[in-house]
Amino acid sequence: MAKRKAALRPKKLRVALIGAGGIAGAHMRHYATMEDVELVALADVSKASMARRAEEYKVSNCFTDYRQMLEKIRPDAVSICTPNGLHAPTTIDALRAGAHVLVEKPMAMNAREAQAMISAAKKHRRKLVIGFQHRFEPKTQFIRRAVEAGKLGRVVFARVQALRRRGIPNWGVFGRKELQGGGPLIDIGVHVLEATHYAMGTPRPVAASGGAFTYLGDRKSNVVSQWPNWDHKTYTVEDLAVGQIRFENGAVLHLEASFAAHIEKDVWTFQLMGEKGGAIYDPPSFYGDEFGHMVNLSPGWLPRDAAADGFAIKMRNFVDHVLHGKPTGAPGEHGLMVQRMLDGIYQSAERGREVIIK
Ligand SMILES: NC(=O)c1ccc[n+]([C@@H]2O[C@H](COP(=O)([O-])OP(=O)(O)OC[C@H]3O[C@@H](n4cnc5c(N)ncnc54)[C@H](O)[C@@H]3O)[C@@H](O)[C@H]2O)c1
Repeated sequence: MAKRKAALRPKKLRVALIGAGGIAGAHMRHYATMEDVELVALADVSKASMARRAEEYKVSNCFTDYRQMLEKIRPDAVSICTPNGLHAPTTIDALRAGAHVLVEKPMAMNAREAQAMISAAKKHRRKLVIGFQHRFEPKTQFIRRAVEAGKLGRVVFARVQALRRRGIPNWGVFGRKELQGGGPLIDIGVHVLEATHYAMGTPRPVAASGGAFTYLGDRKSNVVSQWPNWDHKTYTVEDLAVGQIRFENGAVLHLEASFAAHIEKDVWTFQLMGEKGGAIYDPPSFYGDEFGHMVNLSPGWLPRDAAADGFAIKMRNFVDHVLHGKPTGAPGEHGLMVQRMLDGIYQSAERGREVIIK
């Protein structure tokens, strides 16, 4: 009887983290609430970051070398929460060690790395999920369902905005191109871009054009900022990036992302325009022709709290995917397409002309 009970007990996913800084805290907070997850180990080059998290969540196995952690602990799954430049090598090492991977956004520094991560997941027959959360929010789901139901008709244009007036991070390594791959475009633009691209039905990008501009972050300045005293000496990324993506289906997407821009207020939204209707993320609304009028429709009620928390849903979705075989909402292939768009805009900005996305 005891044996039978044990067999029925759900298996626990043994999860480790590589990188124990800011976002790792959010991963751990969610894992800690899941009955089918056991936090088994942490790896971080900073003993201080690791000690804080280890104490908070009672994790006894801590490593300053993540490869040792993978070898000794053999976790079932790993959350990658390092700076962007380490996403590809840590993911590939974790997959090779037999772990499923949830890698934070952006998937990688560039599409070449993203492709190598997908190939490694296939080779080692492990699951690779990208830490995109905005697609799981009810606001994005509302638009995605409207698109799927054909309410917008053919989506011809998308506008994506992730704009901070004055919000250059004064922590981490977000101003260092060699460690992050870029600035606001790859760091915060990626959030709204992934949600927009998903809501559109993930069309294939074929061309990009854009510009990237640095006019504040790389110089000593005493201008007011929500996070003052960033490290201007190591700042090598853009303050503002703008770009345009052309898709195989003919649709066009326009994107704006900034750490610092001379604008009225921060903006975080996307909008779709189709031949039959349109939709906006915030506040979520649908615009279309009904009853002989042009109407604005908005949900009377949307889930709140945990049910609206895209981050909580992404964490649960990852565990359900690897442990219970449910589909992932954020596969590596979606991450790769997003990465190709980011690469395209950065390349176009450098070359001063439109580039083809292969
Ligand atoms: N999904 C989201 O909403 C969200 C929010 C913030 C950050 N992020 C992403 O999470 C990642 C980390 O961002 P963060 O804000 O936590 O940064 P952070 O600087 O707070 O933490 C990064 C941690 O990685 C550690 N690290 C560096 N090199 C390492 C190595 N070789 N081995 C192990 N650990 C190493 C650092 O010591 C640090 O503790 C970034 O890719 C970022 O884009 C996602």
